[in-house]
Amino acid sequence: MPSLRLGNTAPDFVAETTQGPISFHEWIGDSWAILFSHPGDFTPVCTTELAEVARRAPDFAKRNVKVIGISANGLDDHVKWAKDIEEWGAKFAPTTVGFPIIADQDRKISTLYDMLDEQDATNRDNKGLPFTIRTVFVIDPKKTIRLSIAYPASTGRNFDEIIRVVDSLQIGDKYRVTTPVNWKKGEDVIVHPSVSNEEAKTLFPEHTVHKPYLRTTPLVVE
Ligand code: BEZ
Repeated sequence: MPSLRLGNTAPDFVAETTQGPISFHEWIGDSWAILFSHPGDFTPVCTTELAEVARRAPDFAKRNVKVIGISANGLDDHVKWAKDIEEWGAKFAPTTVGFPIIADQDRKISTLYDMLDEQDATNRDNKGLPFTIRTVFVIDPKKTIRLSIAYPASTGRNFDEIIRVVDSLQIGDKYRVTTPVNWKKGEDVIVHPSVSNEEAKTLFPEHTVHKPYLRTTPLVVE
């Protein structure tokens, strides 16, 4: 199967999850979705990541984003591990794992999403099988893949960055703008190159022209 690219439709699937069976596209509905794989249950980096995702639930809800985890473990392990995650998270703030985790023991969905890196010899479970790598997919309500990132097993993800990209994508879908390096919500954005100078005067009356191809503007968003 060719690898999934930005702009591809996220493959649909049915799965068992800690919140019951789902049909992925139906589960996404009119929301955005973050599908993120982790190498395995009862592993340290993953535990910190899932606690963080649980703790950030209001940040995802505010952006109309549903979050779903996946690893090649069974439901029983997921359920037991979720308790550990909550215990760990509680050291920092009350933590409830409120999002589903897909049980992908047969690696069908991990294979469909190219989440198994056969090349990475550091990324093997104790049976020598590849772990699901730390992949993140951001999927929009049309079920289009808008972001995909793969991290090494040794490095926990930065969910501030993933949320930052969701903000950028959502703003870019609504207004004719792009976002500059290290941008954060509330900061000035870039007028999209497709906006003519004439249009920019009306659309972004407070914009500044730094170079003919680099125009920035404040943007008030709700
Ligand atoms: C971890 O989540 O801690 C981890 C998982 C697989 C390999 C290395 C680290």
